[in-house]
Amino acid sequence: MGILLDGKSLAQQERQRVMEKIKSCKTQPKLAVILVGTDPASHTYVHLKQLACQEVGIGFELFAYPTFVSEQELMDRIQRLNARPDITGILVQLPLPGQNPNPLITAIDPKKDVDGFHPENLERLRQGKPTLAPAVALGILKLIEATHLDLPKKHAVIIGSHLFGEPLAHLLSTYGIESFVISASDSDLSQKTITADILISAVGHPGLITKEMVKAGAVVIDVGTTKVEQKIVGDVMPDVLEVAGWMTPVPGGVGPMTVALLLINVLAAYQQQKISE
Ligand code: GUN
Repeated sequence: MGILLDGKSLAQQERQRVMEKIKSCKTQPKLAVILVGTDPASHTYVHLKQLACQEVGIGFELFAYPTFVSEQELMDRIQRLNARPDITGILVQLPLPGQNPNPLITAIDPKKDVDGFHPENLERLRQGKPTLAPAVALGILKLIEATHLDLPKKHAVIIGSHLFGEPLAHLLSTYGIESFVISASDSDLSQKTITADILISAVGHPGLITKEMVKAGAVVIDVGTTKVEQKIVGDVMPDVLEVAGWMTPVPGGVGPMTVALLLINVLAAYQQQKISE
C-alpha cells in the first residue's frame, strides 16, 4: 500500500510560516478578489481564500459582480485596484460565466498577479527568471517534495490543459524532472500514464485513473475536483493506492496546498512591491 500525502497538514505548516512573516510586515498585505456570477464552487473557493487570509493576517476585499457584468466594468475595477497602493495582490476567480478572462488577466499589474497567470509572469517562468508562479503548480511541487524522493531524471506525465500543464512542467524541469503534458482524450492515455514516475491528473473526470494505468511505486497527484452526490471526488480511483507509492487524497490534498501557496504568493508580491518602492 502507498502513502497518502496529507495536503491538509502540510498546508497548515505553510500557513503558520506565512503568519509569522506577516507579523513582521510594516503594513498589511491585502488581496482583492473579483468574483463574477453564482457558481457555487467558485463561491466556496473564494470563501476558503478569505478565511485563509483572515487566519494569517492578510487583508481581503471581495468585489462580487452579477453574471452579466460587462468586461469593461471588470476592467475598470482592475485598473482602480492596480492604482491602489494598499492592494498588493489581485485575482479574478475562474472560470468566468461568459466574459473573456484573457484581457482581464493581462490588465492586472504583473507585480500584483498572485495567481501567476499574467503572460509576462508566465514568460518569466519559461525563461527561468524569478516570478509569481501559479499557486496550484507550487502546491504540487511541495507535495512532491514531501515524498523525499530523489527527483532528478524522474519522468512526469501531466494530464490537463496547456494553461495548467505548461507552467507546472517548467517548474518540474527545475528539479530535473522531465514532463509531458497530455490531454485526457489522448488515444494512448494508459500506455503513457503507466510510464510515469509522477502522474498528475487535472481533468475533472471521476474515475479516469484506474490502478491498471499506474506504475508501481509512482507518485500520483490528483488535481481533479468534481461534485458527485454532494461529495467532492478526484480523477483517481481510491484503489490506485494499492499500486502507487504516494497519492494525494481528494479532498485534503492539492486543494489546501493551493490556498496555502496563494498566501505565500500574496506575501511574495507584497515584499517585491515594498522593495521596488
Ligand atoms: N479556479 C480554479 N482554480 C483557480 C485558481 O487557481 N485561481 C483562480 N483565480 N481561479 C481558479
